[in-house]
Amino acid sequence: MNPFANKHLLLGVTGSIACYKAADLASKLRQAGAEVEAILTQAAQQFITPLTFQSVTGRRTFVDADLWGAAGHVIHVSLAEKADLMIIAPATANTIAKLAHGQADNLLTITSLAARCPILIAPAMDGGMWDNSATQANVQLLKARGVTFFGPVEGHLASGLRGVGRMTDPADLAGHIRYQLSRGGPLTGQKIVVTAGGTQEPLDPVRVLTNRSSGKQGYAIVQAALDLGADVDLISSPTHLPIPAGANLIPVKTAGEMLEAVLAAIMDSSALVMAAAVADFRPAHPAEQKIKKENTIPPILLERNPDILQTVGFLKHNHQYRGLTIGFAAESQEVLKNAAGKIRAKKLDMIVANDIGAPGAGFEVDTNQVTLLFPDGRQEALPLMGKEEVADRVLWEMMRMMGVEGASSG
Ligand code: PMT
Repeated sequence: MNPFANKHLLLGVTGSIACYKAADLASKLRQAGAEVEAILTQAAQQFITPLTFQSVTGRRTFVDADLWGAAGHVIHVSLAEKADLMIIAPATANTIAKLAHGQADNLLTITSLAARCPILIAPAMDGGMWDNSATQANVQLLKARGVTFFGPVEGHLASGLRGVGRMTDPADLAGHIRYQLSRGGPLTGQKIVVTAGGTQEPLDPVRVLTNRSSGKQGYAIVQAALDLGADVDLISSPTHLPIPAGANLIPVKTAGEMLEAVLAAIMDSSALVMAAAVADFRPAHPAEQKIKKENTIPPILLERNPDILQTVGFLKHNHQYRGLTIGFAAESQEVLKNAAGKIRAKKLDMIVANDIGAPGAGFEVDTNQVTLLFPDGRQEALPLMGKEEVADRVLWEMMRMMGVEGASSG
């Protein structure tokens, strides 16, 4: 489910050096599937041209001169009416002040006053201007009226100084917009817990035993659940991936920490999706100090880690946990037989079996080839597809089992 599909976004651009980032943002939003229309203030046009936005949005860009054109008497109303979300990025201190006090002296501020859709503001200005009590009071006033602010963030400013005043990065803003647009989806009000990444079991303060999980499959599940409107707890070991906007990150390292986090998170959840590759064993006696190579080569004694899904299965059996449990199985031989065994042993509602020996499937890559297995013996083999598509299929099956409207008919 793409939250940007059929969404009409109105992008207001005001006079700041960060205008170039607004063009990037407009391009990202359009590529994500939204229809984007931009309004530039006169000051914004000192930094960037309407043609730039027309080029990246594929639509006409509006300026103050349009207020006095043939449709001038209604243009602000028609732009405001169409919008599902209005974004003002970058927003100067001056425009924020005008919005706070209801001033309407250009097409952007007039349209903002007419807008009934949510408004999201990404400020950009000098650090002193942002800190100024007048600006802060205006921001508070707008927040109290339901306007959402993202940023500004700290960093290098146009003045050459460092401070809080930079516009939020367009990729982060696009993520926040995606999250905002997804609210109200079919999983609204449902909490989904997802685990991702490979756990790390310490050998000494420097070294860990881990595996090749990148977290990509788990993070794709998180994004898909957010896109469907769910509240998502992401229990993740360290990865190199950005946290999907809106996810509640619970960072863990070891299997023991993951077990604790899962047990704390699931009780008010509708489903647990365990995409993490959890280490089955850990060093029994991790060294307190770094093991020196000058010493003799140490034998490493392993002990068993707790099985998280089996523990949850036990809670389920005792009616202490009522949500769905979905596991993944990374198998290199007898894939379906082994996965089916895990459904029974872990009392799962579904298992997603990946044949990690198949080209383009399993750890690290962007694609996966999986078979979905169910307790009644049903199996559904899926072709090689992107991990995002696998995530969509897994969540569609999850919604079907939850009885979420729209999922049962396909
Ligand atoms: O992260 P990527 O690079 O994108 O790779 C994705 C993936 C291959 C890691 C993922 O798709 C996957 O298969 N994850 C599960 C890997 C795994 O640990 O499989 P398993 O067969 O060892 O475990 C079966 C299930 O039990 C899993 O859901 C696992 O999270 C869970 N488990 C395992 C061990 C343990 N001690 N506790 C558990 O709960």
